[in-house]
Amino acid sequence: MIENPAFSVEPWCLRETELSMDVLAQTESVFALANGHIGWRATLEEGEPHALPGCYLNGVYELRPLPYAEAGYGWPESGQTVINVTNGKVIRLLVDDEPFDVRYGQLHSHQRLLDFRAGTLSRRAQWTSPAGQTIQVHSVRVVSLNQRAVAAMCYDIEPLNRSARVVVQSELVANEQLPAQSVDPRAAAALEAPLSAEAHYAVDTRVQLVHRTRRSGLRVAAAMDHVISGPASVMVLSESGTDLGRTSVSALLEPGQRLRIIKYVAYGWSAVRSLPAMGDQVDAALTAVRQTGWEALLAEQRRYLDAFWDRADVEVDGDTEIQQAVRFALFHLVQAGARAERQPIAAKGLTGPGYDGHAFWDTETFVLPVLTYTVPDAAADALRWRHATLRLAVQRARQLGLGGATFPWRTIHGEECSGYWPAGTAAFHINADIADAVVRYVDATGDDSFERDIGLELLAATARLWRSLGHHDDHGSFRIDGVTGPDEYSALADNNVYTNLMAQQNLRAAADLAERHPTHARALGIDAEEMASWRDAADTMFVPYDDDLDVHPQAEGFTKHQMWDFASTTAQQYPLLLHFPYFELYRKQVVKQADLVLAMQLRGDAFTDAQKARNFAYYEQITVRDSSLSACTQAIMAAEVGYLELAYDYLGEAALMDLHDLEHNTRDGLHMASLAGSWLALVAGLGGMRRRHGTLSFAPRLPERITRLAFTICIKGQRLRVEVTGTQTGYILTDNTDGTTLPIIHHGQPATISPTKPLVLPLPPPPAVGHEPTQPPGRDPARRRPQAT
Ligand code: BGC
Repeated sequence: MIENPAFSVEPWCLRETELSMDVLAQTESVFALANGHIGWRATLEEGEPHALPGCYLNGVYELRPLPYAEAGYGWPESGQTVINVTNGKVIRLLVDDEPFDVRYGQLHSHQRLLDFRAGTLSRRAQWTSPAGQTIQVHSVRVVSLNQRAVAAMCYDIEPLNRSARVVVQSELVANEQLPAQSVDPRAAAALEAPLSAEAHYAVDTRVQLVHRTRRSGLRVAAAMDHVISGPASVMVLSESGTDLGRTSVSALLEPGQRLRIIKYVAYGWSAVRSLPAMGDQVDAALTAVRQTGWEALLAEQRRYLDAFWDRADVEVDGDTEIQQAVRFALFHLVQAGARAERQPIAAKGLTGPGYDGHAFWDTETFVLPVLTYTVPDAAADALRWRHATLRLAVQRARQLGLGGATFPWRTIHGEECSGYWPAGTAAFHINADIADAVVRYVDATGDDSFERDIGLELLAATARLWRSLGHHDDHGSFRIDGVTGPDEYSALADNNVYTNLMAQQNLRAAADLAERHPTHARALGIDAEEMASWRDAADTMFVPYDDDLDVHPQAEGFTKHQMWDFASTTAQQYPLLLHFPYFELYRKQVVKQADLVLAMQLRGDAFTDAQKARNFAYYEQITVRDSSLSACTQAIMAAEVGYLELAYDYLGEAALMDLHDLEHNTRDGLHMASLAGSWLALVAGLGGMRRRHGTLSFAPRLPERITRLAFTICIKGQRLRVEVTGTQTGYILTDNTDGTTLPIIHHGQPATISPTKPLVLPLPPPPAVGHEPTQPPGRDPARRRPQAT
């Protein structure tokens, strides 16, 4: 998309210099604003033209039946779908009888700008109506990171050539009509009119609408209030109906005179709170933000983001596009997680309805590593949300005849919502991914109370699952049969290496935690025998190996499968899932996304360097990257095994996934895992950051074009800044109050960073590597490396 000349590459913002109708849907996603609670897609204020309007509240969904032609025991019967809640963004404008609509008249200029430091989306347009009236419209909108329930807009109109009668209609619209549903399985089920009206009122400049979802029974309240400034003759009228609230402002403006409308919108929802309580809640939020005022709201927003960038910025010299992309990514990750507060972080955040608004393992394995080191409280909250759904996960395990808990593959409220169990329920690895995220968070923060009160229970429940899902064979090996690993082009395989290694780590971590917190462990019914059984399963965990090829099969037997016929597969047949039956994909060697390669990243200790290099090369030639969750992992492992230029190419793919719409579905929302992946590819890839037994290790190396990489992470209440150049790495600790030093590992050598003095270490010469591995025909990543002439 940025390749579209309307988008410029700038370090701290995303700017569109003209309105391009052909990418309207994508811009609604990339310019979306959110705070983890409220999400507003970037539809134009006047509502039309639009591609996929959307306002979301995290946790608000509607139930829908999951129909099966042939149902089976334990298949989920009901799905959850994010809904488009009351739209508070609409500001229609009538200029001398003619609606401001960019499809009519003449649009002289149109610019939108998403500012990563201000946390605002602004728009400036100059338009001449079909009757010849020229106006300038300037709007700024914000979804507040400080006042969680609040979004706000400032809308200015000015006639440029002659006096104009303008009418502005600021609206709240419920049950907005949505475009027809896409057939892409990655899009969302569109539910028509999901909200049933309960109450509404309009007084002065304030309007409120309260609705309830029909089946899930969630109450949603939305309210707006306005501060209007303009000529003395301004007339204001507010009215409300079941699905529409409107404040109309009419004014006669002379050229040079301006009408300004500041619109405050407040949202709230609850499954239990009463109608009056919800109404009061949103009214109170409006009162609070009116007291704050527009300028102070913007100042608060900037302060919040200044503090964030101060502890989380990533600087990349040598590639301005990647510089912009990683800040774009961090900005959207903050928007997705900062104020989610014990609600899920969905695969698309709150930027679109894709994947029905569900949260997947994307959160724990991709998004939380970033939040853990940049906004640790948000990572803790996301895990507290998982913990809050533990009761449902225990019930689900019982239903499946298993011990412990089995967390859903995809969900909003906590129940399993995947109707396709081979790539849903069977993807048990999500349980180990949650455990991994818990340990990572505790290692990074030293948050003991979280470990004791939340972590232990999550780890114990998931360890119990593994103990009951696996079994010891005649040789004493612990096997986990018939499960699906991360690669969704394989299913129901025995001993998926990723799953087994992550389960092994989960079992050991659970036993370690139970030992550290004996009283709490006893309260959870964990005794010495159970801990020993976890350790035993971990110690005897079976990890298959193909001695003939000298590589790890992704799962037992995988490397014996027939190779996919890559040579006869055309470019148009990707993604394969839209052109071939799963049956065919499952029986062949073709990999949708990093699986064994991800195991090598997260469990690097379980592989030798030589195995990593051979495995990497083997899986490169059969991985097609039909999932956005792959490029970043391939970048990380390419860097580790020494292919820095390939790592750089993959970094580009992860970072530009949405900005270049590489998967052709940015319209449905941004890919949070890939956004996180751009940070991961830089920090874990080029920075070589890993976590081993609670210690951070780094192995930085830069590809030719990147001359400097600097990043900051939060670690145990301190900030660690790492600055890599072509020859050396500087490690600087700040915020250190008690003088504690930080042990790290730099390129395999232990080192200690003291708070008083930066540590500067040289980069060892790069290892000798053979020929760069190849990908299936046509599936190599776009090249970013300098091209040989
Ligand atoms: C991927 C999954 C991922 C899901 C949501 C699928 O295409 O294969 O790994 O969790 O998308 O992003």
